[in-house]
Amino acid sequence: MDRLFFDSILLIFVLNLCFALMGLGLTTQKLSRDDFPPKPHFVFGSGTSAFQVEGAEAEDGRTPSIWDGVAQSVKNERGVDCCDGYHKYKEDVQLMVATGLEAYRFSISWSRLIPNGRGSVNPKGLQFYNNFINELVSNGIQPHATLIHYDLPQALEDEYGGWLNGKIVKDFTAYADVCFREFGDRVSYWVTINEANVYALGAYDLGIFPPRRCSAPFGISCKAGNSSTEPYIVAHNALLAHASAARLYKRKYQLTQQGFIGFNIFMYRFVPFTNATKDAIATQRAYDFYVGWFMDPLVFGDYPDVVKRNAGTRIPSFTPEESKLVKGSWDFFGLNHYNTLYVRDDLDRLKMKQRDFSMDMAVKLILDWDGVPPGEFPIDPYGTRICLEYIKQHYGNPPVFIHENGQKTFRNASLNDASRMKYLESYIGSMLEAMRNGSNTKGYFTWSFMDLFELFGGYESSYGLYYVDLDNPNLTRYPKLSAHWYSSFLKGGRTNPREMAVVEKDSFLHSKTSYASYFDQ
Ligand SMILES: *[C@@H]1O[C@H](CO)[C@@H](O)[C@H](O)[C@H]1NC(C)=O
Ligand SMILES: *[C@@H]1O[C@H](CO)[C@@H](O)[C@H](O)[C@H]1NC(C)=O
Ligand SMILES: *[C@@H]1O[C@H](CO)[C@@H](O)[C@H](O)[C@H]1NC(C)=O
Ligand SMILES: *[C@@H]1O[C@H](CO)[C@@H](O)[C@H](O)[C@H]1NC(C)=O
Ligand SMILES: *[C@@H]1O[C@H](CO)[C@@H](O)[C@H](O)[C@H]1NC(C)=O
Repeated sequence: MDRLFFDSILLIFVLNLCFALMGLGLTTQKLSRDDFPPKPHFVFGSGTSAFQVEGAEAEDGRTPSIWDGVAQSVKNERGVDCCDGYHKYKEDVQLMVATGLEAYRFSISWSRLIPNGRGSVNPKGLQFYNNFINELVSNGIQPHATLIHYDLPQALEDEYGGWLNGKIVKDFTAYADVCFREFGDRVSYWVTINEANVYALGAYDLGIFPPRRCSAPFGISCKAGNSSTEPYIVAHNALLAHASAARLYKRKYQLTQQGFIGFNIFMYRFVPFTNATKDAIATQRAYDFYVGWFMDPLVFGDYPDVVKRNAGTRIPSFTPEESKLVKGSWDFFGLNHYNTLYVRDDLDRLKMKQRDFSMDMAVKLILDWDGVPPGEFPIDPYGTRICLEYIKQHYGNPPVFIHENGQKTFRNASLNDASRMKYLESYIGSMLEAMRNGSNTKGYFTWSFMDLFELFGGYESSYGLYYVDLDNPNLTRYPKLSAHWYSSFLKGGRTNPREMAVVEKDSFLHSKTSYASYFDQ
């Protein structure tokens, strides 16, 4: 990460002081579940993803995903697959019940359900997800399912280059069709693709995530790739695949199943590094690149002007039909939010002939680690509030879920994770402020329910409410302080955890002011 510049240390110090004072204000005002709308109008949950938690990678007909090979060396070191969720799902659902979770966010493994990505359904994969979803539902926990959380079937990568190829749209839609048909009677909240913006950048610009494609000087040691073009192509195909699956859901299933479908993006809070106008403009540019890249096509039908201008011919254009398909292809948005970054203008980057996303964005991003314990994230008590305000004000206040939010620690840290408890309390409080100001937020999920195989950090970093003892063959789960805190927060409210009602479609889609009025009562 970039180092701070001396001339700005004072500013950062002053900002930190403000944050500290605000943080004090928020944490002394005790949060309660009762401060939020009751389930099913608002749900609190936690999440994991298939590849990161299931294990059982070669069992019952599953074929490899693009993550299997990359993760193998890390996993071999430990000799175990975290967390064997494939076999321990009943126990885990009981842990969710004990914690008081109202909802659970998980993803389906495409290559477990449809080995090799295309063709016939694997009956054992189908059975597993049916069992798991039934277990959630019968225990009063609302299932929120993501169709793909990074783990593309390796077969599709090998056959035609996965997300780089427009063929992915058809295969993804066929896979989505199976999921809606088989599980849609019990799953009412669907997300097509998890944080496609980070995926496109991590996998095709920096080359740190599979399929690890990049080109110098932007990424290092990739066998192949083109950091200047591929992230834009992958993002375009992801939008088209999402829109195609969403259209199918709306035409074929929504009327009878009465559920909702959405898209998920990763979102930083951006703050100008100085009060210079150019840093304010640069901050908007950072939002346009990170957020507008996906949100603008989904809401308005095209990429932001500044993105098109700076990426030039390297970003694909939408045909009029594609634009129509993508625009409005959602019922809600999911945000994965963890951090605040400072933004410095760096327009000189546009002078480079060879550019990637970050050069096109023409800013310098700075994370302020000052005073933050090693392995942890800084806590910004405005984080969720500003992100939710941004979505509300720029995109007409669509329904939003916070799909991921949580503190990172070293996995070997103490179970007494006070910093995670403080983080959650602060960000949940910050979300409440946004909701009281009219944000149409529908739910909140901590990342992650238990310590799992982190895509960025393997078994070194952790976000879990529960610790998983990898040295015990039973992979025993132990509650951390944050699990106790979240549990007592969730149980302090008037919500009935056994209640399984789903929000009426009309009240979900057309309730832009209902939460503000809820708070007025
Ligand atoms: C990436 O693609 C662009 C556009 O086709 C091309 O100009 C550039 O040379 C390519 N870069 C690499 C590293 O192949
Ligand atoms: C912020 O702006 C004020 C004037 O509006 C100026 O005096 C001050 O130096 C600026 N501070 C920074 C850190 O740029
Ligand atoms: C915990 O893990 C981190 C990162 O792997 C390492 O730097 C640190 O030394 C470990 N601490 C202990 C007490 O083992
Ligand atoms: C509250 O919402 C209004 C209307 O969208 C907006 O103008 C205002 O800036 C928001 N307040 C805060 C503190 O975000
Ligand atoms: C694993 O679980 C079994 C059954 O609950 C128990 O008998 C056994 O002692 C446990 N093993 C360890 C190492 O905790």
